[in-house]
Amino acid sequence: MADYLNVFSAAVLGFFFFIVVTFSEGHKVPGIYVFGDSLVDVGNNNYFPTLARIDYPHNGIDFPTKIPTGRFSNGKNAADFLAEKVGLPTSPPYLSTLRPMLNKNNPSFLAGISFASGAAGILDITNLGLTISMNKQVEYYRTVYGEVVQQLGAIEAQKHLSESLFYIVIGSNDIIKYFNQFNIKLRPEEEFVDSLILTLKQQLKQLHNYGGRKFVVVGTGPIGCIPFERHKNKALECRQEVNSMSLKFNEGLKSMLQELKSELKEINYSYFDSYNFFLNFMQKPASYGFAEVKVACCGVVLDLDPKNLCRLTSSYCSNRSDHLFWDPYHPSEAASSIIVDHMFGGPLQYSFPFNVEQLIAL
Ligand SMILES: *[C@@H]1O[C@H](CO)[C@@H](O)[C@H](O)[C@H]1NC(C)=O
Ligand SMILES: *[C@@H]1O[C@H](CO)[C@@H](O)[C@H](O)[C@H]1NC(C)=O
Repeated sequence: MADYLNVFSAAVLGFFFFIVVTFSEGHKVPGIYVFGDSLVDVGNNNYFPTLARIDYPHNGIDFPTKIPTGRFSNGKNAADFLAEKVGLPTSPPYLSTLRPMLNKNNPSFLAGISFASGAAGILDITNLGLTISMNKQVEYYRTVYGEVVQQLGAIEAQKHLSESLFYIVIGSNDIIKYFNQFNIKLRPEEEFVDSLILTLKQQLKQLHNYGGRKFVVVGTGPIGCIPFERHKNKALECRQEVNSMSLKFNEGLKSMLQELKSELKEINYSYFDSYNFFLNFMQKPASYGFAEVKVACCGVVLDLDPKNLCRLTSSYCSNRSDHLFWDPYHPSEAASSIIVDHMFGGPLQYSFPFNVEQLIAL
C-alpha cells in the first residue's frame, strides 16, 4: 500500500513537473485574447452574414493550407505572428468555438480566443451591422471569462488571465469612416477623437474588471497612406487630413493608457507606434527588403469602392513579399511579420514603455 502511494505521488509530482516544464519551455504566456479589426481577424466574420467577409481567393494564397481562412491577407496576419512569438497556436475565432462540434474544454480555449472582426470599430455605429463591434467583442469576452473561471476556479483563473496577453488593434475603421461616411463627419474632429478615446478607455476597463492585466495596444497607422486613400488622387499622395486624425488618435491613446495605468495600478501595457513605424517603412522600403509601398498587390482600387478587395477575378502582383500592401487596406503577410518582429522585440523607439517581450517578462 505504502509503495503504491509512493509510486502514485511520484507520478503526480512527475505530472506537475511535466506541466511546469512544458509551460516554461513551450510557451511564454498562458493565453492571448485578441480584440480588434481586420488587421487581426482570423475568421470571425466567416460565421455570420456580412459584406465584410474575405474567405474567398486570392486571399490565403500564401497561407500554409493555401485556402482562404477569413484573414484579410495573402497569408498569415499579425495575430498569427504574435502567437508564434510566444509559442502558442493562433487564438481561434470566438464564433468558431460556438459550433457544437468544438467542445468548450478544448485547451485552445484557455490558450486564448480571438474576438477580432473585420470592419470593427471602437464605436458601435462604425460599420453597424457588418461587424462585431468592440463593445460586442468585450461582451463576448465576458462569457469567455465565465468559462475560464468555471474551468480553473476563481483564483487560478485570475492568475491565468493576469499572465495572458490582451492584444488590441482597433480604431482605423472609425477614422476611415469619419472621412468616408457622411453621417459621422458631421461631428467636429476633436470631439470625434475624444469620443473614440473615451469609449476605448471604458472598454479596456471592462477587460481589466474581467481579469486583463497585460495589454498590447497598437496605435493606428498612417491610414491616409493606404492604397484606398492614395487612389483618391492621381499622384498617389497620402491623404493628410486622415493621417492627421490618426496622429491625434494616437496621442490621445498614449495619454489614456498612462491614465489607465495610474488609475488601475496593477495593469501593464505595451503601446506600439504603428504610425511612425509604417512611416519609416514607407520612406525606406529597401531597408526592409520591400519595393512597393503605395500600390496594393491585389484588388487595385479602380472605382473607389471600399468593397473592392482582392477577389478571384483580380490580378495580383508577381512578388507578394516585396509589397507592403496585399490589398487596398491591409498589409501583406511579409509586412505583418516584420511589424510583429518590431512589436515583440524591437527597439523602444516604437514601443512604449515596453516592447511585448519586456511586458511578458514583468
Ligand atoms: C505591473 O507593473 C507593476 C509595477 O509598475 C507591478 O507592481 C505589477 O505587479 C505589474 N503587473 C503585472 C500583471 O505584471
Ligand atoms: C521577391 O521580393 C523579395 C523581397 O524583396 C526578394 O527577396 C525575392 O528575391 C523576390 N523574389 C523574386 C522571385 O523576385
